[in-house]
Amino acid sequence: MPKITFVCADGATREVIADLDQSIMEAALAAGVPGIVAECNGAAACATCHCYFESAYAAHTGEIGEHESEMLDFTASERTAESRLSCQVRVAAGMEGMTVRVPPTQ
Ligand code: FES
Repeated sequence: MPKITFVCADGATREVIADLDQSIMEAALAAGVPGIVAECNGAAACATCHCYFESAYAAHTGEIGEHESEMLDFTASERTAESRLSCQVRVAAGMEGMTVRVPPTQ
């Protein structure tokens, strides 16, 4: 169960011990991390779970799927090379110490 640090839009941080069988979005919501809306509840249909993932952990976050990439074009905050839909990223053991930034708006 890796420890992941969420950095909220106001700069506050939350350390979350995440279960391996959940998504990053689910781990964040379970821990009460603010700023992740997840309107579609993980169906990759709303882009309100947008977060920025450290590129150093790209080997553990998996590839961006075609549909996820299309949805990332509709995020309220700027899409960057670190953008992912947090509902589409599964928690992995190699994420120990990873930081996930929550965007200013969803
Ligand atoms: Fe809707 Fe992730 S929760 S796209």
